[in-house]
Amino acid sequence: MTPDHLLSTLHSIVGAANVLTGDACAEYESDWRRRAHGKARCAVRPGCTAEVAEVVRACAQAGVPIVPQGGNTGLVEGSVPDTSGEQIILSLRRMQAVRTIDPANMTITVEAGCVLQTLQEVAHEAGLLFPLSLGAEGSCTIGGNLATNAGGTQVVRYGNARELCLGLEVVLADGQIWEGLQGLRKDNTGYDLRNLFIGSEGTLGIITAATLRLYPQPAAQLTAWAAVPSLQAATALLALSHRHLSAALTGFEVMSQEGLRLVDQHYAHLRVPMWRETPWCVLLEASDSESEAHARAQFEHLLETAMEDGIVTDAIIAENIRQAHDLWHIRESITLAQAAEGPNIKHDVSVPISRIPEFVTQTDAQLQALAPGLRLINFGHLGDGNLHYNVQPPAGADAAAFIAAHEAAIGDVVYRSVHRFGGSISAEHGIGTLKRDQLPLYKPPVALQLMHTIKQALDPQCLLNPGRVLER
Ligand code: FAD
Ligand code: MLT
Ligand code: ZN
Repeated sequence: MTPDHLLSTLHSIVGAANVLTGDACAEYESDWRRRAHGKARCAVRPGCTAEVAEVVRACAQAGVPIVPQGGNTGLVEGSVPDTSGEQIILSLRRMQAVRTIDPANMTITVEAGCVLQTLQEVAHEAGLLFPLSLGAEGSCTIGGNLATNAGGTQVVRYGNARELCLGLEVVLADGQIWEGLQGLRKDNTGYDLRNLFIGSEGTLGIITAATLRLYPQPAAQLTAWAAVPSLQAATALLALSHRHLSAALTGFEVMSQEGLRLVDQHYAHLRVPMWRETPWCVLLEASDSESEAHARAQFEHLLETAMEDGIVTDAIIAENIRQAHDLWHIRESITLAQAAEGPNIKHDVSVPISRIPEFVTQTDAQLQALAPGLRLINFGHLGDGNLHYNVQPPAGADAAAFIAAHEAAIGDVVYRSVHRFGGSISAEHGIGTLKRDQLPLYKPPVALQLMHTIKQALDPQCLLNPGRVLER
């Protein structure tokens, strides 16, 4: 089949209304940050796994590359096409069905386009918990979450998307369907195929459905906001929280004064607590299996001890769910406040928790020497050693010009420092195209070679999200 015949073939597979071109395709062609703007041949919206398989087969015959897309909330420019006009976008958004929920097995099987928040709600209605939680949960999809191995705010207790997945259904590059939705907790029958696709960012196969772990709902959930005098104190508070709360610690986020200043500036109605008096704030969450009273007593004891030790200077515990929600909303608004402030540079990195304070002190100093006045918007999932070590151009500067002039050098400083401290240049967002050229600098050559071997074996024509993660 020639590329010219492809469009009519796609019409016959998914129906003309589900093959979008021109203006109708535009929303699929730019990323969430409006940094990447591509041009696609079309966006195709299959309604079931069989249609996905037919679309992939047709593209394989025509030699046309495919960019899988879920909610298009990815932050590493991996979900939109390049500018050639040759690639097709394969949007999974129509495939939203909850196939089965098995309360006794504590699992749920959903299609890839199911929005994360919908999945959380369905689990909740069944009296269970699906714990993956992130700022984009109202529009990101479970397929995208698995393709990026998303993290978010509950990883400290429940792990990344990978740890929450027991099975996958995947359409392979030649259109075959791998049915791996068993939902088993133990299955040592050879290589772990599921984990190969998780985190592969659409470069090895199209995830069409997943079987996911569910957990019991906690009897009570409490949120606290604490002012801490330093990042060293924040890591000490984390260690203390692990000791006091054990498995009940479900969230531990850190936020710098500059990040909270931006939230206050753009969303003053959110009434950010304490930020003016302290360099760092911490958001803690405890999920208790006994009762609200038990959770509150434990939390109060933890914070009293922390104050006596001098690692917390002020703290509040949310009185009710509404207050807890408001505190979380402040934390989730940092990314939005950064976007409202203008173009910025993101570094989603991880470093061993014990080394984070030293990493930040050294890297901050290097960056201020490189580009005096830049604003460090540092926040993130401290419980997982994951910082969003983001950079906003100096106040009043021409942001686009600053980024054009300094982004590469700033990235070099940050990633070299991360590497020196034994960290990773991508903690939870993935590689996409944004970090593709950095990857070979920091990934051991043998690991990189293995990745190329796997890509070649699973996608010999290099048609699945080419140029993402690896150079083609
Ligand atoms: P998309 O953006 O559509 O795609 C992401 C990647 O996955 C692309 O490479 C795409 O090709 C591939 N892909 C998508 N669907 C499939 C599929 N079915 N099969 C194969 N490949 C596929 N991320 C975190 O990890 N933690 C956070 O805390 C977090 N917070 C965020 C907050 C905000 C405000 C925003 C905008 C983003 C945040 N993100 C976070 C990033 C983003 O939400 C996640 O990466 C999310 O998992 C992407 O899901 P998606 O459905 O939007 O995927
Ligand atoms: C978050 O945790 O809010 C996002 O992953 C961070 C970001 O936008 O950089
Ligand atoms: Zn994050």
